[in-house]
Amino acid sequence: MKESLLIDKYGRELNYLRLSVTDRCNFRCYYCMPEEGIDFASRKDLMTFDEMLQLSTIFCNLGISKIRITGGEPFVRNGIMPFLSKLSNVEGLQEITVTSNGTLSNKYRAELLDMGIRKINISLDSLDRHRFHHITRRDSFNEVYAGIFQLLDAGFDVKLNCVVANNKNIQDIIPFIELTKNYSLSVRFLEEMPFNGSDGSQVLSDWDYKKIYEYIGQHYTDINRLISDANSTSVNYKISGYKGSFGIIPSFSRTFCGTCNRIRLSATGELRTCLYGPPVANLRNLLRKGASIVDVEHEILAAVAQRERDGYAAEALSNSSVHTSMSALGG
Ligand code: GTP
Ligand code: 5AD
Ligand code: SF4
Repeated sequence: MKESLLIDKYGRELNYLRLSVTDRCNFRCYYCMPEEGIDFASRKDLMTFDEMLQLSTIFCNLGISKIRITGGEPFVRNGIMPFLSKLSNVEGLQEITVTSNGTLSNKYRAELLDMGIRKINISLDSLDRHRFHHITRRDSFNEVYAGIFQLLDAGFDVKLNCVVANNKNIQDIIPFIELTKNYSLSVRFLEEMPFNGSDGSQVLSDWDYKKIYEYIGQHYTDINRLISDANSTSVNYKISGYKGSFGIIPSFSRTFCGTCNRIRLSATGELRTCLYGPPVANLRNLLRKGASIVDVEHEILAAVAQRERDGYAAEALSNSSVHTSMSALGG
């Protein structure tokens, strides 16, 4: 693999861009945004697909080799499929993956496979229709659940993301792991983060990595730790004899910052070198001011050079009292 030019002062090489294509979503998950939604960006503030393609090309030229498409819900943006098709031809880009809520992704499965996109992460917080409805504020469990098996049948590598919280879905943890008995998928349990579009008064889940693991440990005696990729967010495990695996993502505890290889671009062009930090540049504005490729490269390189050591140091730079929604941050 080509060496990336994006290296921060702690020696971490960035080769993974998380590109948000919209801040809109057809769900209203309680941990992401209030029921009435957030102040969504106006159309003119969203990057056009041409701008996204230009910036992706620049990023890949600097050493990005993987792009994860996020949102909001990426498939609610009109024109997403032709964009992905063009993106799949960008030089240097080895892998495109997608994170979706699973309502619309399934209908595009043949097209996605044709473009070489075969890894998809689906948010699924409950295996019970009523709890799912309560969490997402939408009654879409049946279609999302059925779609997951269609994706698996079609050959996708599927990871499920489940944000764990009291009074929401603790009773789903073991059934989720049981789903990995016969299906070759990965279920990841996520710590809740404060990115919910609120004023900070919302009490966060206290189900951290340790608590989740201990809970699972009370139900199984044969948990095997798997060797994960160096840059994995999840610590991964498998129950002996099960086809799939499960993982825990310490996204709030932030224990994986030391190997973090990610950079993020929001749908409005905000560049972040850490999920917890403030935007460090707006690349859409640069393009619209007529900046050259070299100017944009310099801005990206400067942002990477300033990158903080970890999510705690990055968070300390954010002085906003409002917690930006994950949908606006881009996951
Ligand atoms: P892979 O590309 O398969 O490694 O995916 P992923 O697990 O990073 O992607 P996904 O979009 O499924 O994100 C799942 C969760 O991982 C997010 O909700 C976050 O909780 C967490 N996460 C992803 N990237 C970061 C990050 O840079 N920092 C922190 N703290 N959490 C992250
Ligand atoms: N805390 C933890 N995870 C979150 N997600 C969205 N908002 C939050 C939050 N506040 C998850 C979604 C999706 C992933 C990209 O981020 O469930 O799977
Ligand atoms: Fe939509 Fe994802 Fe936010 Fe849920 S977490 S409201 S699916 S963007």
